[in-house]
Amino acid sequence: TWAQVPQGPPDPILGVTEAFRADRDPCKMNLGVGAYRDNDGKPYVLSCVRKAEKRLLDKSMDKEYLGITGHPGFVQRASKLAYGADSPALAESRVAATQSISGTGALRIGGEFLSRYYPYAKKIYLPTPSWGNHTPIFRDSGLEVGQYRYFDKTTNGLNIDGMLEDLQNLPANSIVLMHACAHNPTGVDPTAEQWDQISQVIKDRDHFCFFDMAYQGFASGNVDRDAQAVRQFVSRGHYVALSQSFAKNMGLYGERVGTFSLVCQSTEEMKAVESQLKILIRPLYSNPPLNGARIVNQVLSDSTLYSEWLSEVKGMADRIISMRTALKDHLVNDFGSQHNWDHITNQIGMFCYTGLKPDQVEKLTKEHHVYLTKDGRISIAGISSRNVEYLAQSIHAVTK
Ligand code: LMR
Repeated sequence: TWAQVPQGPPDPILGVTEAFRADRDPCKMNLGVGAYRDNDGKPYVLSCVRKAEKRLLDKSMDKEYLGITGHPGFVQRASKLAYGADSPALAESRVAATQSISGTGALRIGGEFLSRYYPYAKKIYLPTPSWGNHTPIFRDSGLEVGQYRYFDKTTNGLNIDGMLEDLQNLPANSIVLMHACAHNPTGVDPTAEQWDQISQVIKDRDHFCFFDMAYQGFASGNVDRDAQAVRQFVSRGHYVALSQSFAKNMGLYGERVGTFSLVCQSTEEMKAVESQLKILIRPLYSNPPLNGARIVNQVLSDSTLYSEWLSEVKGMADRIISMRTALKDHLVNDFGSQHNWDHITNQIGMFCYTGLKPDQVEKLTKEHHVYLTKDGRISIAGISSRNVEYLAQSIHAVTK
């Protein structure tokens, strides 16, 4: 029966973890998937999360189904975190929102919704490059996928002119996806001034902006600063969609907790959108899981846990920044690499887009047991002070 089923390729990101697990070398490093590790290279559960879990356990709560759109307290607090406590759109009850199966689930809900109800187009434009999962998510949602210029290989920075030109030339009312902060995979974000220019072109061309915010707090260490682009767009009258994830900033990877939201023009519109989100979600998975939403709700609603969380996010962001500096220092000062490695410290968030070529990536994995995605992206969050020198030595060896 299944003889005609072709063998598929491994996932470009999660497949790297599978290969890493099969490697027996003690020096092996997994810099593929974006998952934070502490300075001993161990998975890190935030202490605010441990405390929230303990409180929840002490309450002996039930395990009833959530509603289709999830935990109301969680959704409300998560939306405040994203749009800002003083957001007029929230105050005016015109943000449709639902809990989602983390960022991927939020993007899929958004893709499905746009594919059914966006009146002007059935195509979404992604930055080049973008997170590898964006294309299949939107294609499976029934949208065509296009691209706009983003990364400049010659500077390892943003190609702002190419980006603005492409956005200007797209058909009016196009759907464009933007990374709210800590762009994955490049670690290159627009400056506040560049966001202004982007916002203006999007406004002029009546484009619709779908923000993917998977790293709030990870770019700068400050959750408000990292939400600036989203908030700025909303305050300028853009009716944005937003995918929000708590995988990285609360370390809740396997709990799969996030939200999808859409800023509407009126409460009436918001109600109709929410009714359609329910209709779309019910046949997908009925209703979302309970535990992660309860944890986030607990952390966001208790001022002590909330401040503890803010300092833990900053701690993670700072450790990543210190690993960037250490990696560059080792490459340049200890191993005397002649290449320019400034982008390691200029880029932000979990990832560095190293500029390594596919054959160098392959060598790094085969000869040095360093696992990374084929595009040369490394997860800085996977480096520790114990192996940063080994990594620098290995990168130097394949780039000499
Ligand atoms: C990544 O890009 O490594 C993360 O977003 C994890 C994932 O699911 O791909």
